[in-house]
Amino acid sequence: MICLGIESSCDETSVSVVKDGREVLSNVISTQIEIHKKFGGVVPEIASRKHLVNIAYVVDEALEKAGVTLSDIDFIGVTYGPGLVGALLVGVAYAKSLAYALNKKIVPTHHIEGHIAANYLTYPDLKPPFLALVVSGGHSHLVYVKDYTEFEIMGKTRDDAVGEAFDKVARVLGLPYPGGPEVSKLAQKGTFSYKLPKTKFDNFDFSFSGIKTAVINIAHKEGEKLRKADMACSFENTVCEELVHTTFEVVTKLQVDKIVLAGGVSANRLLREMITTEAQKRNVKAYMPDLKYCTDNAAMIASASYYNFLAGKAYDIQDKLDLNAKANLKLGD
Ligand code: KG4
Ligand code: ZN
Repeated sequence: MICLGIESSCDETSVSVVKDGREVLSNVISTQIEIHKKFGGVVPEIASRKHLVNIAYVVDEALEKAGVTLSDIDFIGVTYGPGLVGALLVGVAYAKSLAYALNKKIVPTHHIEGHIAANYLTYPDLKPPFLALVVSGGHSHLVYVKDYTEFEIMGKTRDDAVGEAFDKVARVLGLPYPGGPEVSKLAQKGTFSYKLPKTKFDNFDFSFSGIKTAVINIAHKEGEKLRKADMACSFENTVCEELVHTTFEVVTKLQVDKIVLAGGVSANRLLREMITTEAQKRNVKAYMPDLKYCTDNAAMIASASYYNFLAGKAYDIQDKLDLNAKANLKLGD
């Protein structure tokens, strides 16, 4: 089965052709990072307009790179939430139009299911059940993946997402958007010498706004004297310690033997190292997506869409003409 996947939930217009949910024939990403950089973050209205300009070209390029035509496509998978509503709408409207014109089935897919599926592209033999730590610009979730399309949220952030906290701290340190990779790069030149607060709940939730606010307060207090590399290193370590600690509490509770990283922040070097080390200690197998599948891309959406297709979640477009973008879509809805 060949899926044409479409992703436009934030600032990447991406289209991919994936066979049987695992074999990537093409994965084209048109990123808007340079445009949003000058504003210090994603400007939603600009993002939607750029998706609109780019999408038809990205579809053509993805088909060409895969060496297929539209008639070879069996179904269309599209991210319909969560994300920026205007940005999502462009991908959803394009997917619906294509499905209508070609008389193909459409599979609406959750963005986070896509991030988790990025691991199926990296590890051909990976199968659920496993625990997934999903960390991106908009999400920080611990998800028990019972089966390909069966999820239980074990814990989540009560305030900022991890990537969001990285991006805000980057701004305070004078680093460009997207801040995560920049903070991480600077952290390598520093030491873990600032003490930052951690919040502990009696369940498996996270909180990152306290850590972020502490960074902002210290930065204001110390001004020019702020040791930026040390702060980047202290922030990154504090956040990763919190993520890893809670993740392995859930591993113990569920008695799973596989832990999977997902989302943009899963590209973080320290997080990958700490998860690997802790997993080895406990005889748990750790999986993390190939770096090219960590941040937003359509290959992961096509992979997740394939498993939704197998689970009977593919629709005749005539029955799904009311499919809409859902900015706050919950996993499992
Ligand atoms: O998954 P993603 O591309 O978009 C969302 O669905 O949100 O994640 C983007 C986020 C941004 O906040 C970015 O700063 C963060 O992932 N990120 C990182 C790293 N690479 C990307 N954060 C920490 N370390 C990194 N190496
Ligand atoms: Zn994402």
